[in-house]
Order: sequence, then structure tokens, then C-alpha cells
Amino acid sequence: MPNPFRASFGAVPPFLAGRDGALDDFELALDHGPGAEGRATLIMGARGTGKTVLLTEMEAIARDHDWQVISLHTSAPSLLDEARTAAIEILRELDPDASRYRPTGASVGRIVSIDGTWQDAYGDPTLSPGATLQRLTDLMGSETGLLLTLDEVQSVDLDRLAAFAQIYQDLVRAEQNVAFVAAGIGAGVRALLDSPKTTFLRRARRVEIGAVDIGSAAAAIQATVAATDRSIAPEAAVRAAEISQGYPYLIQYVGAQAWSHAGDETTILLEDAQSALASAIEQMSTNVHEPSLRDLAPRKLEYLRAMLEDDGPSAVADIAQRLGTYHGYQSVYRDRLIEDELIRPAGRGRVEFALPYLREALVRRSARDAGHATPPAQGVRPRRTR
Ligand SMILES: Nc1ncnc2c1ncn2[C@@H]1O[C@H](COP(=O)(O)OP(=O)(O)OP(=O)(O)O)[C@@H](O)[C@H]1O
Ligand SMILES: [Mg+2]
Repeated sequence: MPNPFRASFGAVPPFLAGRDGALDDFELALDHGPGAEGRATLIMGARGTGKTVLLTEMEAIARDHDWQVISLHTSAPSLLDEARTAAIEILRELDPDASRYRPTGASVGRIVSIDGTWQDAYGDPTLSPGATLQRLTDLMGSETGLLLTLDEVQSVDLDRLAAFAQIYQDLVRAEQNVAFVAAGIGAGVRALLDSPKTTFLRRARRVEIGAVDIGSAAAAIQATVAATDRSIAPEAAVRAAEISQGYPYLIQYVGAQAWSHAGDETTILLEDAQSALASAIEQMSTNVHEPSLRDLAPRKLEYLRAMLEDDGPSAVADIAQRLGTYHGYQSVYRDRLIEDELIRPAGRGRVEFALPYLREALVRRSARDAGHATPPAQGVRPRRTR
């Protein structure tokens, strides 16, 4: 029996925890016709919170409603050219007039024949991206529509986005049945929204996602196993959810680990869930925290390290003291780290780590920096003679 959990980035899991509201709102926006609130949506969240999965699920909902979907990529040299090429492909399938037989002459032999060629109505490179999209949405009429999506929007080139926004807004103004969903890392997207070139994104409905509640995480784990011929003890599902801290990537990772730990047993037990804790910490360190800590400004890292002295939330006054700075200076870094989604406010004058096992990742990193983590390799042996 293959492992049903999907512990890899971008992989849509069999059950989505905590996304009912966002998906219902999106579906309503499709039903409510052009110009409805929520036709342009901006999904924001930290790494591994399920942005790509949510965007992919919205695409699936649109297809269920007989919409066409065009996924754009920030790596493309031009969003508009990418949209145009994809629109032409759809048009060739949908449009009965996409290719026409054009007679070029007639020859009269023993039988009369007409010479001609098949011409592609969309082969003309001068048909602009705007006109192509307009043609497509015209053809689809009011019953169906066109969804355009853009993942990893935090790394989009601003001019390319602005050029795309203009064409999209023309379609909206012309009351065409279109929708747009973008997704990106919260901190990066917030920086993007400061630019005057992103007014369009600023007006989109924001869906900020993060960890889901433990009950929903446990229910997703339970449902994932229940859809197979195995089962999971209720306390094991709850423990797995607790270890995941409701963080979507870990829901899948811990679920997958517990599943394999159970081996050939038909029921996943508490000990199987419990066994996933150490590797969940390891996995988060390597895949999520290490990459982001590596790029972090030294002052921010110092701030995070100053928080390690407390077991739970830290008082910002204590942090200022530990850093040997005055309060105002401390608050600059606090605010930046909150924007980076690495810490969050925890009641008056306190902050705490915002991502699961960030504390553990920092401790490991400090140990490594101090030279304690991996002991130098030992031993000498002669080379193998050939
Ligand atoms: N709602 C959810 N419930 C359970 N698991 C989820 C949910 N959403 C995503 N996952 C799982 O979380 C992991 C990360 O999902 P995804 O790749 O969508 O995250 P992301 O926010 O796009 O990450 P990144 O910032 O790296 O692009 C995947 O293993 C996915 O299966
Ligand atoms: Mg993603």
C-alpha cells in the first residue's frame, strides 16, 4: 500500500486541512459573475503553508465549473506572451473557425479540383496578447470563464506584472468573465505591494494562510489514512497533529513518517506518531529554516538568538537588555522579523517564534557555529591499489 501522504512542496494532498473558507469564497466569486469581489485573489503565507496547493485547488474548482485555466510563471520572459501562447492553444481547440480552407485556385482536369491551404486564424503573430485574450473570453460567453494564475509572485518582475495587469484590467472593464489568483511568500509580497506598479494586486482580496488548528490537522490525517485499508488510532492522529503544530508541510511529513513507522501493521498507533518528532525537527531545519536563516541579516539573527534564553514567549524589554540596545532599536528588528513571519506578537510586550521548530533550528545552528555539531572526521587508510 503506497504512502498516501504528500510530503513534498507543491504536491496536492488527498485532504486539505483548514482551507474551506478560502475555497468556498473563491467558488462563490466564480458564480457571482464578472466584477464580483474576490475575482482577483492574492494568497499570502510563509514557506510550506500550502499556497501552491491552495492555488492548484482553485484551478481545479474553476475547471469543475467548465472554466479554462492558464497558469503563468514568473520565470517566463513575458507574462503576456505566455498568456497569449496558452490562449491560442485553447482557441485552436474551442474555435470552430480556428482554421479555414482558403482556396488558392482551381484546376480543371479530368475532375475539377480546387487547390487551397488550411490557414490558421491564430498563426498571425501580430494578434496582440490583449486581443487574443479578448477573443478567447468572447468566445467562451457568459457561462464559462478564464482563470489566470501566477505562483511565486514575490519574485515577479514588476514591469512584466504591470504590463499583464493592464491587459487583465481591460478584460475586467469589458465585463469579460475572468478571474486572477496570485500566490507568494507573505514578506516578499508585502514588499511588492509597496510599489506603485502593483496597485492591481493591492486591490485583490487577500487570503493570508498559515498553520491550521490542531483539530483540523488531526481530521486531515485521520481522513487520509481512512481512505486506505489502514486505520489510525484517534490518539495517534491527535499526537501527529500536535507534532505538526498545524503547519501544512508537517501535517504531510509527520503523517508519512507515522505511516511508514507502522510497517505492515493495519493500525497506526501512538508510538508511530511519536516516532516522527525527531525527524520532523530535522526536516524543518534542513528544508525550511536553514535556507531562510542563511539569508537573514546578522542583526535579525542576533535578535532570534536572544529569544532562545526563554523557554516560552520573550519579553521585548528583556531582549533589548540582552542585545544591549535601547528599546526603540529593538522594536525595529522586532517589526522586521514579524514581517518576515519568523516571530509573532504573543500578548503585551512579548514575542514568540512563529514557525514550528525554529527554536530547535537556531539551537542546532548555534551549536554548529560553535563547532560542536559534526565532529571532524577521523581515521587513516591506504588507497586501494588498482
Ligand atoms: N491545507 C493543507 N492541508 C494539509 N496539507 C497541506 C495543505 N496545504 C499544503 N499541504 C502540504 O504542505 C506542503 C507544502 O505545500 P505547498 O507546496 O503548497 O506550500 P507553499 O506555501 O506553496 O510553499 P512554498 O512557500 O515553498 O512555495 C505539501 O507537502 C502539501 O501537500
Ligand atoms: Mg509554493
